[in-house]
Amino acid sequence: MIKVIIGGICGHMGKTVLELVRTDPETECIAGVDLKQEDCGVLLYQSFAKVQEKADVVIDFSSAANLENLLAYAKRTGAAVVLAATGYTPEQIQTIRHSADEIAIFRTANLSVGINLLQKLVREAAAFLGESFDIEIIERHHNLKKDAPSGTAYMLAQSANQAFGGEKRYCYGREGMVGARERAEIGIHAVRGGTIVGEHEVMFAGDDEIITLAHSARSKRVFAAGAVTAAKFICGKPAGQYDMQDVLANK
Ligand SMILES: NC(=O)c1ccc[n+]([C@@H]2O[C@H](COP(=O)([O-])OP(=O)(O)OC[C@H]3O[C@@H](n4cnc5c(N)ncnc54)[C@H](O)[C@@H]3O)[C@@H](O)[C@H]2O)c1
Repeated sequence: MIKVIIGGICGHMGKTVLELVRTDPETECIAGVDLKQEDCGVLLYQSFAKVQEKADVVIDFSSAANLENLLAYAKRTGAAVVLAATGYTPEQIQTIRHSADEIAIFRTANLSVGINLLQKLVREAAAFLGESFDIEIIERHHNLKKDAPSGTAYMLAQSANQAFGGEKRYCYGREGMVGARERAEIGIHAVRGGTIVGEHEVMFAGDDEIITLAHSARSKRVFAAGAVTAAKFICGKPAGQYDMQDVLANK
């Protein structure tokens, strides 16, 4: 049995992961960590600094603010980590990179298989269409999402930008007399409302034609299932940084 600790266990995603871990014959949840102390039927800590149990893997759906405590726990115990929260700062991403010299870390802004395929298609479309098409990314999420734009929108922008050697700059929304759109931009726009689970659209707008690549998540279970798949994949792996592309390549 793979021993799992869930970070953010009282949140929307944490609860869904707990359901899946409980029903999966290969995994068991030995504890949870959350600032909230709601009874969810497992041993609950308020911080990773206080956790005594040794897990094989931690699945964290809490927040970027929890990173330092979580990495310290993983280094202390040798547990592998699935970082599923979003909104990490560039400094935190550096910390994650350095920590991967010591522990196995899985990180992706989006755990759905479909989005990871979309990433590949966007990269190919951008390389094929080149400079004559303007790229705009529109993401839509529920009204409780705290960070914007979504980590996935940023990931898709980076995939498109690979075709241009990373030279395009990101334009986050537009307002006022911004002037004509420049070729060197990739536009990124965040829409928030209601209970939208997560929608991403990458538009390639050329002269007289538009190509749109899009993905729509219909339920949060898709991300929770991806996190459990990632946890099983990373368990027992040597130190290093892994993502969904590694899981797909392994299939
Ligand atoms: N990678 C993906 O595919 C993916 C998919 C969905 C959500 N997410 C991300 O997962 C995170 C959680 O999403 P959610 O919808 O479940 O949010 P949520 O607000 O419902 O749940 C977050 C939980 O984490 C707890 N928490 C927050 N900060 C904490 C801290 N410092 N220490 C301990 N507990 C803490 C909160 O009390 C809450 O219970 C967000 O960052 C979201 O963007 C990622």
